[in-house]
Amino acid sequence: MFSRRIRQMTPSATSSLVGKIAELRASGADIISFSAGEPDFPTPTKVVEACCLALWDGKTKYEGVGGILPLRQAICEKLLEDNGLSYGPDQICVSTGAKQALYNAVMALCDEGDEVIIPTPCWVSYVEIVKLAGGVPVLVSTNEDFSLNIGNIVAAMTDRTKLLIINTPNNPTGAVYPQETLDALGEIVTGRDTYVISDEVYEKLVYGGKRHVSIAARSPELYRRTVVINGFSKAFSMTGWRIGYSAASVELTKAMTGLQSHVSSNSTSFVQWAAIEALNSCAGEVEAMRRAFEERRDYMWSRLSSMPGISCLRPDGAFYLMPDVSRYIGSHSPKGEIQSSQDLCTYLLEDAKIAAVPGEAFCRPNTLRFAYSTSMENIQTGMDRMERALAQLRDI
Ligand SMILES: Cc1ncc(COP(=O)(O)O)c(C=O)c1O
Repeated sequence: MFSRRIRQMTPSATSSLVGKIAELRASGADIISFSAGEPDFPTPTKVVEACCLALWDGKTKYEGVGGILPLRQAICEKLLEDNGLSYGPDQICVSTGAKQALYNAVMALCDEGDEVIIPTPCWVSYVEIVKLAGGVPVLVSTNEDFSLNIGNIVAAMTDRTKLLIINTPNNPTGAVYPQETLDALGEIVTGRDTYVISDEVYEKLVYGGKRHVSIAARSPELYRRTVVINGFSKAFSMTGWRIGYSAASVELTKAMTGLQSHVSSNSTSFVQWAAIEALNSCAGEVEAMRRAFEERRDYMWSRLSSMPGISCLRPDGAFYLMPDVSRYIGSHSPKGEIQSSQDLCTYLLEDAKIAAVPGEAFCRPNTLRFAYSTSMENIQTGMDRMERALAQLRDI
């Protein structure tokens, strides 16, 4: 009954976990979840007010597919100010979330059989988006410290390499790629028929005085070859509003907008007016959230690192920690052997009532992903529970 495309698709592991957590909660279990990739803060009040005003003002009709001009202009100003990137409004396409912008870009660039390099661990959707577009995902492992391994990427490139997808700050690792790494990538793609998709949705969440750099700003050649993807979900705590955007060449933007015209048309009209408010007047709120995340990162990292058998890097960005749990593979709970990080997750969920995502979901077995986008109180209680549960495992 189903198309090959659908049969080849793997449903999102994080979404199925959400279902399992909901089931356990419904049966009365007090679950602390570290699985959600979304900020726990409310959307800034100014944004909500701007949305209400837009609704009352009748901004409820179809708009131009690529977004209203004032929003595209505000995005251009943001890209210039924050990233040193100069785009015109005809280079911006506003979409229903960064996810749609990514899908547009891959669909517009990838032909059947084209290879797409994706460094791993990686966000769950890249691989599936590439497969849906008929492309071939080529997974390339990062170094142990989650920095990009340039040698591995060079070795994976062939005449069919059409795209390289990078994500900095990174989900699931939290890694922030330094300028030198971006320059090294630039050298690899220059002079070939290879494009870069740079997913920068976590750009506002960078810690310890580090700075986010966009690869598109590193050279005129990279500017031409890169599709910058960004959005409002993570920086402004607007996950449910579903709004994101791409910035690219005029021709590519036309192609992506054309595709979107047959899929969803414009992103929600009144949400676009609220997005302008977010860009223009929420720097204070964004910074307050960033500071809270940094404090949580420090606390959670110190708790995880002090647990026996757990080794955890302290990343510079996003809101994730990805500890290595290989010492626990082969250990035993009262219910049996822990054979994978998936098993460890199930044990932690059922026995400690805490939810993390198994590294298998991000193409890195023997790890778990913890999102610290939940309250400090939840993090403290969750880490206490985890410590107790791990201490009960035998044969580590
Ligand atoms: C790396 C990455 N890119 C894109 C997205 C999608 O963001 P949006 O909510 O804007 O579609 C996510 C969401 O989790 C993400 O983690």
